[in-house]
Amino acid sequence: MASHTFHNTHANKYDRMTSGGSLSIAKQAITMLPVPVTESSYVLDNACGTGIVSEVLKAQCPSLRIIGADLAPGMLEIYQSKSKQYGWENVDTKVQDVRDLNRIPDETFTHVITNFGFAPNVDDLTGPGRAAKEMYRVLKPGGVAIVTTWYQRNFEKALEATSKTIHPNEEPFTWKAPAEWGKGWWLMKMLDEGGFDAKVDIKLVEGGMQTASLDELVENLMFFKDMFFKDYNEEEVKRLPEVIRKEISSSPGYYEHENGVGVKMIAWIGIAVKK
Ligand SMILES: C[S@@+](CC[C@H](N)C(=O)[O-])C[C@H]1O[C@@H](n2cnc3c(N)ncnc32)[C@H](O)[C@@H]1O
Repeated sequence: MASHTFHNTHANKYDRMTSGGSLSIAKQAITMLPVPVTESSYVLDNACGTGIVSEVLKAQCPSLRIIGADLAPGMLEIYQSKSKQYGWENVDTKVQDVRDLNRIPDETFTHVITNFGFAPNVDDLTGPGRAAKEMYRVLKPGGVAIVTTWYQRNFEKALEATSKTIHPNEEPFTWKAPAEWGKGWWLMKMLDEGGFDAKVDIKLVEGGMQTASLDELVENLMFFKDMFFKDYNEEEVKRLPEVIRKEISSSPGYYEHENGVGVKMIAWIGIAVKK
């Protein structure tokens, strides 16, 4: 299943599904921008989903111009309702494929941020390379690109173990991305070859999911049902929360703190400047 198809169907659950995981990395990435976003910047929130990156930026610069682009119209609908709810000005949305930003002219933006949307289709090995070239093309000279990719998500091992408990004879669902897509050198290579050349920096950061309770975390992880537990019968679906609870709370990234619980996640942040 291509990522935009899944996200289109589950757009209204996306923010709960992530439990703050992608937000925790987006916030760190934005603090690392070598040219900070100001009110006069023009930003492409690339593969924007429900607008997690835009939300962080709008809190800093309320009149900032942003285009939110995504291949899933369902995600853009949530983005637009968020925009209305928060009264965002100077914001537009476009259905666009990160591999072919054909509705965006060359040298448009001061910043292009692709938070976990750089390699969305594991069946298209050319996708990330094309996405990097497109980010380079639509940036103004001196503009900055940010790309984030996961190094360790942690929670999916718990979902795989859940699947093995309930369906012991079946191969669990896994994201079948090439192993190199989780490496920092690969992200550097993609950005270098995309046109940024030596002006690329790569950082490894820790963030993660955080919820007020273990019950809430389990509820949120249940939103991955159609990916990890597709075609389970009613009886099996009823068992899921209990098994997920046991697996996630004993998984290596899990921790408890005074305000709730969390699952540590580790990500690469690629920062590239167009000459
Ligand atoms: C993991 S979500 C990330 C969303 C958001 N950037 C965030 O920070 O949470 C991936 C997003 O990429 C979108 N997507 C999948 N394939 C895409 C493609 N080829 N071009 C553009 N967007 C795509 C999905 O619809 C989804 O909104």
